[in-house]
Amino acid sequence: MSKNLEIIILAAGSGTRMHSDVPKVLHNLCGKPLIHHVLEAARQLDPLRIHVVISPRSGMIKDRCSSLGEINWVVQELQLGTGHAVAQALPYCDDDNRLLVLYADVPLISQTTLHSLLNLQADVAILTVKLENPAGYGRITRTARGEVQAIVEDKDATAEQRQIDEVNTGIISINANQIKPLLESVSADNVQGEYYLTDVVELAVQSGLVVKALVGTSEMEVQGVNDQVQLNMLERESQRERAVALMQKGARIMDPDRFDLRGSLVVGKDVVIDINAVFEGEVVLGDGVVIGPNCCLKDTSIGNNSRVLANSVIDGASIGNACSIGPFARIRPGTRMADEVKVGNFVETKNADIGQGSKASHLTYLGDTEIGQEVNIGAGTITCNYDGAKKHRTVIGDHVFVGSNTALVAPVEVEKNAHIGAGSTITKRVPENALAIGRGRQRNIDNWKNRE
Ligand code: UD1
Ligand code: CA
Repeated sequence: MSKNLEIIILAAGSGTRMHSDVPKVLHNLCGKPLIHHVLEAARQLDPLRIHVVISPRSGMIKDRCSSLGEINWVVQELQLGTGHAVAQALPYCDDDNRLLVLYADVPLISQTTLHSLLNLQADVAILTVKLENPAGYGRITRTARGEVQAIVEDKDATAEQRQIDEVNTGIISINANQIKPLLESVSADNVQGEYYLTDVVELAVQSGLVVKALVGTSEMEVQGVNDQVQLNMLERESQRERAVALMQKGARIMDPDRFDLRGSLVVGKDVVIDINAVFEGEVVLGDGVVIGPNCCLKDTSIGNNSRVLANSVIDGASIGNACSIGPFARIRPGTRMADEVKVGNFVETKNADIGQGSKASHLTYLGDTEIGQEVNIGAGTITCNYDGAKKHRTVIGDHVFVGSNTALVAPVEVEKNAHIGAGSTITKRVPENALAIGRGRQRNIDNWKNRE
């Protein structure tokens, strides 16, 4: 099917109803721009070429799509309507090819539906849907025998036509050599003064082409995003679907209305996810993992039976089995925890390798560090990894005990079984089994009185 398919994605509209400086199609749905959703669906059809029509002010769109494969960017100088937009891409399309027009602001269209549309035996195939509230959409008018006659835009429709519940999704498929003459006859004689792509349908019927509609079954798939309210509706609907899919795999999600997945999430058995969890990138949770309320997890894997307590943020980390993190922990990229590690409240880690059974229970910064097994990091310990110019490493051996309020000035090594007295500033290597104390001695002055 893809042998002669070219896809045109329309993305030049001004998106005024978003009231935003960001082009509409770059607003995120489930963590990625609207246009990415459409480009991915298009790519799955394996077309010969993908053309995206943008306005001259939309360089930003190009930049944000640079990782999504080859795209022929077509600039529509003036936004004179959807018909005009398609016409701008036609010079780049081969006459013998089949065209599929998609809208960058209709993000949830599925590959399956597009396949069915392309399989319709018709010169012109349009995708329609019946909506309970069709307001705003173009309506499909049909003859008494039920054949598609025309599409009438909401703003141009009569009161009677506005009662029609079958609407145009905007998605249409037609041969390049057939649409060319039709678009040439489209006029801008309508309420919006635009060249409507939708007028092609009536012109095709008049010129004797076979026009058929595929009536879609999913409202969500064909929903357009024109303002923040519609965007929010799609976001919540898709999030609910994702939560339901995870629950069907056995996850306990405390409230699907307070759950956000903006990437992919793989869950083991008996996973519990409390309210207000946000997942980004690729996250993997092992069996029995519990995620407390208000946690954000990004590009992270968590081993079996580990717990992330309330209000923790984890990004780019790999966490072993039976670990406990938080509440209020910040785990930054490059953190690797072996099994049974405990990181408590107000602890920040970055580029930190933490060995089995080690603990940093409170108020600590561990950056650019390697920590062995069964190490105890006292409250208020800081790895001073930055000297103002460069980052340096701290290496801590197995079974080390770091007393509270210790500053480890990197580069520095604390060898295994060493002990550091509370309040120390450690600037030199601490040998195996030694006790290091690096602080001013306490001096007591007897009978001290404040001057009056
Ligand atoms: C359009 C359809 C309507 C359909 C609805 C479905 C027309 C005339 N109307 O209306 O029948 O029910 O979509 O969502 O086609 N665009 C350009 N250049 C332009 C104008 C628009 O590239 O000059 C792009 C927009 O970026 C958008 C798409 O075309 O991606 C649709 O434009 P929009 O203005 O949102 O059309 P609707 O009024 O929603
Ligand atoms: Ca629209």
